[in-house]
Amino acid sequence: MTKQINPVLTARGVSKHFGGLTAVDEVDFEVSAGEVVALLGDNGAGKSTLIKCISGVYRPEQGKVVFNGEDITHHAPADIRSRGIETIYQDLALAENLDVGANVFLGKEKTRRLFGLIPVTDDNYMREEASGALDELDIHIPSLKQKLVNLSGGQRQAVAIARAMYWNAQLVIMDEPTAALGVPEQRKVLALIRSLREGDIPVILISHTMHDVMAVADRMVVMRRGRIVANITRADASEELIVRHIVGSAENGENAVMI
Ligand SMILES: Nc1ncnc2c1ncn2[C@@H]1O[C@H](COP(=O)(O)OP(=O)(O)OP(=O)(O)O)[C@@H](O)[C@H]1O
Ligand SMILES: [Mg+2]
Repeated sequence: MTKQINPVLTARGVSKHFGGLTAVDEVDFEVSAGEVVALLGDNGAGKSTLIKCISGVYRPEQGKVVFNGEDITHHAPADIRSRGIETIYQDLALAENLDVGANVFLGKEKTRRLFGLIPVTDDNYMREEASGALDELDIHIPSLKQKLVNLSGGQRQAVAIARAMYWNAQLVIMDEPTAALGVPEQRKVLALIRSLREGDIPVILISHTMHDVMAVADRMVVMRRGRIVANITRADASEELIVRHIVGSAENGENAVMI
């Protein structure tokens, strides 16, 4: 049997409701190897909900998500993560009361045996490995013994990115990765996205920063009120066209709006 390599991820007819609200409405979405896909849309368009349907945080009421040929709809988040989908959430899913090392290893803790018997977490090993991963990304955190709760938004984001890199993700989903970062760190994240693409690792990037999107995305997918309203390749994209799709004037045939 020939192995299908493209697309890596396919979502078909995915819907997610919250009470009477349809947050994601029959969405078809796919990502191929080495592709950076920007997911765009206004606040509340359904972007985070869609990626949570992919990463297993939410169970869609309808539709199917297939990753590397395998149906992962309704799988648990830890199971989806173990298959190589690493998600860096907007509302960071890190453990606030654990240190940096423990967060990089969250859900995959390294243990050692005390007196050859009692399993305990190997904090030093995890800290050293985390330190190496952060160094590779050229990200500096004063003390890896710090609990996450004491770090800045940008430093936490960096820990989440280091975790994704350390575990050799096969698909990286980033929900607003640069929103909490300073300018040098934003540049690092963009460089990191490019190096993922060079390594054939696809990235789904949610961002309101049009500059970031234009700088790294190969394709732009726009959501509005839970639906996909545009799918534009880099060659056909302009900031103005994307903004028109985001606000909804493109489909109505109106001229570009002033914002
Ligand atoms: N857990 C929830 N319970 C109820 N409603 C929710 C929940 N999460 C999201 N929603 C609603 O679903 C819709 C889509 O929200 P979502 O967070 O996916 O938007 P988004 O595109 O990520 O927006 P933003 O750019 O502001 O992050 C919104 O109307 C939101 O209020
Ligand atoms: Mg969101």
